[in-house]
Amino acid sequence: MDVEQKSRFTVTRSSQAVAADQRAILLADPGFGRIFTDHMVTIRYTEGQGWHSHMVGPREPFQIDPACAVLHYAQEIFEGMKAYRLSDGQIAMFRPEENARRFAESAERMAMPALPEDLFLEAVAELVKIDADWIPEGEGSLYLRPFLFASETFLGVRPSNEYIFCVIASPAGAYFKGGSKAVTLWVSEHYSRAARGGTGAAKCGGNYAASLIAQKEAIGHGCDQVVFLDAVEKKWIEELGGMNLFFVFDDGTVITPPLTGTILPGITRDSLVHLLREEGLNVREEPYSIDQWRADAVKGNLIETMACGTAAVVTPVGSVVGPDGEFSIGSGGTGQITHKLREKLVGIQTGAVADFNGWVVKL
Ligand code: PLP
Ligand code: COI
Repeated sequence: MDVEQKSRFTVTRSSQAVAADQRAILLADPGFGRIFTDHMVTIRYTEGQGWHSHMVGPREPFQIDPACAVLHYAQEIFEGMKAYRLSDGQIAMFRPEENARRFAESAERMAMPALPEDLFLEAVAELVKIDADWIPEGEGSLYLRPFLFASETFLGVRPSNEYIFCVIASPAGAYFKGGSKAVTLWVSEHYSRAARGGTGAAKCGGNYAASLIAQKEAIGHGCDQVVFLDAVEKKWIEELGGMNLFFVFDDGTVITPPLTGTILPGITRDSLVHLLREEGLNVREEPYSIDQWRADAVKGNLIETMACGTAAVVTPVGSVVGPDGEFSIGSGGTGQITHKLREKLVGIQTGAVADFNGWVVKL
């Protein structure tokens, strides 16, 4: 192995990196979350010592004790972000400082030490640089998964005294098997994702664990994703298991649920609010009920619904299956605004459309 000291990271190149011809085969159809690059970044935290042992090294399993705190009390947070290969060969990331900020906010909610935002950005950039050959061409991207977990060997219930921060990378194509085709949503009547005072606005693993039974129910009913309602009245639409929602009306109004602490403040959501306003649409961040959604869809004044997130980009919602049966959105396919917005966002991310908001950060 070839070891070098660069910046504050010790870099050790993998001696078992995937060969170029094999990598090309994997990149031809990466799917989502099943192929991984050759390296990972790790930084350790110890109470009293702070952040230390900054490493870029071969991707390998962790050795953790069976009493490792995260395995018992789920003190863990993560981020999801992407690196793109621009047509001129340069590498770009989309609003990475927003991920760094949200990561620090998630850490605070989970009583974990906040990784300094510049260190988060440096860690991600180190991994993208060493694994740059894994960034797919065209619309594909390199999905980056920074995460932080409690690594102390201790069974008492309190914040851990030791943590491991890690970044791994996974070449990504479409999140859904059907590409960007319209998805069907299942309305979860029994299960909530988050309540006021809970962890809904933090990107912690526990939120996803709690959502899996509802997602399983959705699949069991032939749906792609679950849509969660508020935990108190079971009336107000919140978000999907891994995406925010936008509702588009025929009078140029667009509604997206407000950030009241129970949903994730999506970076794609924030970007779409800006882009829709730039297009002259009247975006309102306000509560929207499941009954109103059905009534508006049936009446026809609700013309489109889209789900959005880093992994899912902008995905049209075609139909909704709920306790009172099923209803379709518009024609059940991809609406015009959803299509246009997806093209614009992906265009900005990949350098094909001008980035007037300064969202694209070149490495
Ligand atoms: N909501 C949830 C629960 C998510 O997991 C995600 C994905 O990260 C989003 C919304 C969208 O967030 P972002 O656009 O920052 O990826
Ligand atoms: C992301 O979009 O980055 C997420 O974390 C969502 C997850 C369901 C893959």
